[in-house]
Amino acid sequence: MKFFVDTADIAEIRDLESTGLLDGVTTNPTLIHKSGRKFLEVIEEICGVVDGPVSAEVVALDHETMMKEAEILRKIADNVCIKVPLTIDGLKTCKALTGEGTKVNVTLCFSANQALLAAKAGATFISPFVGRHDDNGFDGLALIEDIRLIYDNYSFTTEILAASLRHPIHVLDCAKIGADVITAPPAVIRMLSKHVLTDKGLEGFAADWAKTGQTIL
Ligand code: E4P
Repeated sequence: MKFFVDTADIAEIRDLESTGLLDGVTTNPTLIHKSGRKFLEVIEEICGVVDGPVSAEVVALDHETMMKEAEILRKIADNVCIKVPLTIDGLKTCKALTGEGTKVNVTLCFSANQALLAAKAGATFISPFVGRHDDNGFDGLALIEDIRLIYDNYSFTTEILAASLRHPIHVLDCAKIGADVITAPPAVIRMLSKHVLTDKGLEGFAADWAKTGQTIL
């Protein structure tokens, strides 16, 4: 399973990249706003840090303007992945861009039928939003299961990029279901390494080691 981080915070991206665990980055207009930085500059900087796909989202709602925005974004670096919304215009843009060899992430997916359309439009990634689904009284993980089943039925190569993940259990369940990729905020990725018994074990070993009076270095 690939791990993407969902942030536009360069310091966080650099730090996670240094673990060797990071396969890509996703951003959205809200995350760009939070960063307080210029969109094109921040995407260029992220692409310089990470080799894998970096999702940069168009903001136009019509196909023609989406194509113009995508043209600017994909020139930034080879690893830019154009993020388009799951609308008819977004799907048209997806079809056109993937036909030209550009990676496309179709975002804001909330139903398995939407995911089916994205696969037919040749999407590189489909981003079902698990957390927002849950927030609205739906079952976000059931959505991932349905998409997995449908994509496997027809051998679609579109990768399921489980998004809007809020906690480690979401990541665990996505891994069990067989999502191809997860994207999560830096804090959620860091939480995956945590266990109270790991901390307790370390404390015990450190205390006993101190009693030996030895050093390794
Ligand atoms: C994914 O690409 C989105 O940027 C993201 O996962 C949205 O998450 P949120 O629902 O926590 O804003």
